[in-house]
Amino acid sequence: MNFSSSLANTSFNGLLFNASGPLCITQEDLESIGNSKSAAINIKSITVEPRAGNQEPFWALTHIGGINSVGLPNLGYKAYIQMVPKLKTFTKPIIASVSGLSIEDNETIFKALQDTEIDLIELNTACPNIEGKAMIGYDFEQTRALLTRLKLFNKIPFGLKLPPYLDPILIQEMAEIVKEFEIPFISCCNTAGNALIIDPLTDRSVIKGKDGLGGLSGAALKPIALGNVAMFYRALKDTNTKIIGIGGIESGRDLYDYILAGADMGQVATVMMHEGNGCFERIQTEFCILMKEKNIRKIEDIQGSWDLSI
Ligand SMILES: Cc1cc2nc3c(=O)[nH]c(=O)nc-3n(C[C@H](O)[C@H](O)[C@H](O)COP(=O)(O)O)c2cc1C
Repeated sequence: MNFSSSLANTSFNGLLFNASGPLCITQEDLESIGNSKSAAINIKSITVEPRAGNQEPFWALTHIGGINSVGLPNLGYKAYIQMVPKLKTFTKPIIASVSGLSIEDNETIFKALQDTEIDLIELNTACPNIEGKAMIGYDFEQTRALLTRLKLFNKIPFGLKLPPYLDPILIQEMAEIVKEFEIPFISCCNTAGNALIIDPLTDRSVIKGKDGLGGLSGAALKPIALGNVAMFYRALKDTNTKIIGIGGIESGRDLYDYILAGADMGQVATVMMHEGNGCFERIQTEFCILMKEKNIRKIEDIQGSWDLSI
């Protein structure tokens, strides 16, 4: 049993790939993902200039999940463009996550990517503040302004990586934008920002950078991300927009839960940090075994079927 998927006319041989973030920064990292069972190679969020990232420790794995304030360390867009021909030899989709620090930076990167063989762009709307405003994904006016400008670069389809929303009204508002701009996929979701985990041995935050606050990932994020996927699934049911579920996928059952909530595919970050790239094969194998046990042949048969009342 093997499951495949597609996003914006790009085919994926599998349902799971790496989330932009950890272990996808260097050429070595990306080639290692190419050699794994990840269904795609998703590149670390790219800025115009290379960035070193925040002070260490910027990542901690705790009993409830992960927390990080890595600060977008990446090699800058020019370095990633040079890697594309080599990455193409792995014959799987290449996705560039773009996280420009201003509208103009995003335009510069989008423009430069148009003439490459990258298959898709994932625009990270949960990136750091622009001009002292809220994160783009929490500022709908700013999101519209950005998308209006980026839609002019239309050779490579792009989707949105969204922050988690804790109010259904916000999901409705973002879903309206997704419909208005005919966004082919949303990646749902980035970490829950500005969390604090205190180490009982030191009475201090477990991470540095950003005053000890960071984005929550892993198991602690899963119920929130799953709820977001479920709400977006309902809001976008009558459109062609696909949903990638992200947050705490660590087993085949977790991936299955995201499909039940309405996702088409999944991405992983935290589990990669402690297990490495073997996680793609393990999780997808567990998923296939579960589907076989339940005698489900197509994900469409269960997609979005979580609601007891329906
Ligand atoms: C160390 C680390 C770095 C991350 N960097 C990025 C990033 O550059 N761009 C992005 O869109 N998301 C980034 N994320 C968020 C992940 O892509 C993902 O949305 C989040 O961690 C939830 O998935 P998980 O529970 O599988 O970790 C990062 C996450 C971690 C743990």
